[in-house]
Amino acid sequence: MLVGRRRAVGKRLPPEDWGEKTGAAKDHLRERGGPGGRVCGRWIADSAGGLVAGEARRRGSWDGCAAVGKRIRPMDWRRGETRRGSLAEAGGEVRGRRVGGYNRSMKPTAKIWHNGRLINWDDAKIHVLSHVTSYGSSVFEGIRCYVTKKGPAIFRGREHMRRLQDSAKIYRMDLKYTVDELMAAMDELVRVNGMESCYFRPIVMRGYGDVGVLPGNNPIETYVACWEWGKYLGEDALARGVDVCVSSWTRIAPNTLPAMAKAGANYMNAQLIRMEAALNGYAEGIALDEAGYVSEGSGENIFVVRDGKIVTPPLGASVLPGITRDTVMELARTLGIPIVESLVPREMLYIADEVFFSGTAAEITPVRSVDRIEIGSGSRGPITEKLQKLFFDVVEGNVPERAGWLTPVSGARQPVQV
Ligand SMILES: Cc1ncc(COP(=O)(O)O)c(C=O)c1O
Repeated sequence: MLVGRRRAVGKRLPPEDWGEKTGAAKDHLRERGGPGGRVCGRWIADSAGGLVAGEARRRGSWDGCAAVGKRIRPMDWRRGETRRGSLAEAGGEVRGRRVGGYNRSMKPTAKIWHNGRLINWDDAKIHVLSHVTSYGSSVFEGIRCYVTKKGPAIFRGREHMRRLQDSAKIYRMDLKYTVDELMAAMDELVRVNGMESCYFRPIVMRGYGDVGVLPGNNPIETYVACWEWGKYLGEDALARGVDVCVSSWTRIAPNTLPAMAKAGANYMNAQLIRMEAALNGYAEGIALDEAGYVSEGSGENIFVVRDGKIVTPPLGASVLPGITRDTVMELARTLGIPIVESLVPREMLYIADEVFFSGTAAEITPVRSVDRIEIGSGSRGPITEKLQKLFFDVVEGNVPERAGWLTPVSGARQPVQV
């Protein structure tokens, strides 16, 4: 049964309902006025990288893609169809208008930290011929500072900065700053920018100098910026969950780019995954590793729950060693929920009782469907909810025994007492 355009596009269906889905897709097409309209399903890429959706229909694509012969521009993922739990919530551009959390225009703050001193937001610029722009030679972090009763506090900042050091070491980049110095940089930024909560983006990059691939006379530039950032996968994604797909793109394989480094170049792979998902109307894409096992989302680690036990792919499945992943594992142990690292076959996603993502940006986000197959009851499951609740209690400083994960910001703006 069709209930309006958005449903036609985003409908989650039982596995056997492919026939109805095709019908839904056709209906949607009619609503959009025939040729030139498009229905979100799987788009088929042509050899030039454009997308010929009519081809999908000719082939009778199971997921009912029915745009009619219209080639859409490669960048049209920004105007992808929207549906609940999907692009609009995830924050894309819909008819030229920015919506949602992740891509919402950021509000500049006053200062950015650069190589040990504060500079104005607008002065944080690099030369176009910097090594990083041609060769992707950067490593970075994403860290959150939460509002707590005692004022702003940075969550697991030391672990993030250690991973930044690891990433730099893997790429032979000489990061001159210690974890303490980088922690002090974040502390200072919260104070000077008057933040109550924020997201930090430390970036270490090879700068302007030699232009060849072999870095030589290229200074290592270190920046830390911060800004206010909402919910990565949408405001109500945390409660209702998101609809995701398995990507046609494989996660970077070992011996290509090291997955344990959080390097800018890795996110070219992540962009392909994320854009494909958005174009097809999904909030996120899950990449498989080169052997075909589940790896992770474009910007999140993944967990699968079945019969009360949690499984997450091991580091050998090309996953980033997520700080939130580690947090989830610790919290599951605290709650007495069995959790193991193990290879996850793709089909385990479909038959799971619960699936959820973890990440600094995504926090703990339930997944309610994968490839339009409903997961469990199609909403946040009880184990996900328990972990989420404990996670937010921890990051907001309500769990004294986990206080060590929070670094209070010295002399920062205190919350208003009522
Ligand atoms: C590819 C990828 N995997 C996993 C994560 C989650 O890592 P963390 O929990 O440290 O933010 C991120 C986010 O940084 C990511 O980009």
